[in-house]
Amino acid sequence: MTDQRNHPEEQVLQDGDPETTGHSWDGIKEFNNPLPRWWLWCFYLTIIWGVAYSVLYPAWPGISGATAGVLGFSTRAQVAEEIDRFDALNADLRQQLTEVDLTTVTREDNPDLYNFAVQAGESTFTTWCSQCHGAGAAGVQAAGYPNLLDDDWLWGGTLEDIQATIAHGIRNEDDPDARWSEMTAFEGILADEEISQVVNYAMSLSDEDGDGVNAISQTYDEELASAGETIFLDNCAACHGDAGTGDRFLGAPNLTDAIWLYGGTPEAIEETVRHARFGVMPAWSLRLSEAEVNATAIYVHGLGGGE
Ligand code: HEC
Ligand code: HEC
Repeated sequence: MTDQRNHPEEQVLQDGDPETTGHSWDGIKEFNNPLPRWWLWCFYLTIIWGVAYSVLYPAWPGISGATAGVLGFSTRAQVAEEIDRFDALNADLRQQLTEVDLTTVTREDNPDLYNFAVQAGESTFTTWCSQCHGAGAAGVQAAGYPNLLDDDWLWGGTLEDIQATIAHGIRNEDDPDARWSEMTAFEGILADEEISQVVNYAMSLSDEDGDGVNAISQTYDEELASAGETIFLDNCAACHGDAGTGDRFLGAPNLTDAIWLYGGTPEAIEETVRHARFGVMPAWSLRLSEAEVNATAIYVHGLGGGE
């Protein structure tokens, strides 16, 4: 028997078969049929289309950019045009936002400008503020990024206060009008024992019912706390107030509520007392237009905690 794989039968050509290319695989011969006409035309059309496209539109990459194309089309220019169109539509409202007394921009008194400000402010907030304050402006608990929805304000919650905070920022070196204060780091100033006493006293400040547990359910030592009172009055009250309710002029947080910028656990408070904190926020007037800053202030003021 012959080995079919290595020595297959030769294909026998019939009368009327087209000529072959001369190629033969395992005895199978390749006919030299012409390509179908429709296929060939499609092929020529793609070549013509390709050449025309690369002449009309940006196509061939070069060192500093692609060839421009004779139509001068550019997606970038298209977007810029769209933006200009919207800018022109809103130019008047934006101009007003830099001129009016912001407190008059309310839903009742000036609904058009108010709606524009809230929407523009929200989109600015999403782009520039949410990475620190969270998309919903709720801040990041105990990480130093304050919640902007509540009525607990470090630096003040009137429209004017909020506008100033946003425009100039907090503890940044870029804007001479930035809000500024520095808590003292008490490591080395107070003895370890005094630190532990004042930490416990600070915790007791938010213990309304006197059950030895502070406003966020952290237990403290009442004996240490009572020993910490004079330390607090001598070292902390100048900024946080005798009663610990804070000072907005200094951005010193209220220590008597359940809201903690850096955390109300004994560990977090001890860290604050030993090494202090230094929350920095950029000055937005250096990066955003005056209208954008004002719109964002109106937006934040309207979130619920505005005064
Ligand atoms: C890089 C992070 C960061 C970004 C971005 C940022 N902030 Fe802040 N923001 C902070 C920090 C930190 C504080 C608190 C500083 C402190 O400890 O006093 C703060 C405080 C504030 C306060 C004061 C809150 C109070 O209780 O008084 C307002 C208002 C505010 N931010 C609004 C904004 C707005 C609006 C934007 C966007 C235009 C923005 N922030 C962007 C970090 C940021
Ligand atoms: C010179 C003013 C100043 C003095 C003195 C001072 N603080 Fe502060 N304290 C601040 C400021 C300002 C902040 C906010 C820092 C920030 O946001 O970066 C702060 C923050 C805190 C916080 C964090 C609150 C939170 O919500 O997380 C605690 C706790 C605190 N101080 C306790 C104390 C205690 C206890 C003392 C005394 C031993 C003291 N401070 C002395 C200004 C002061």
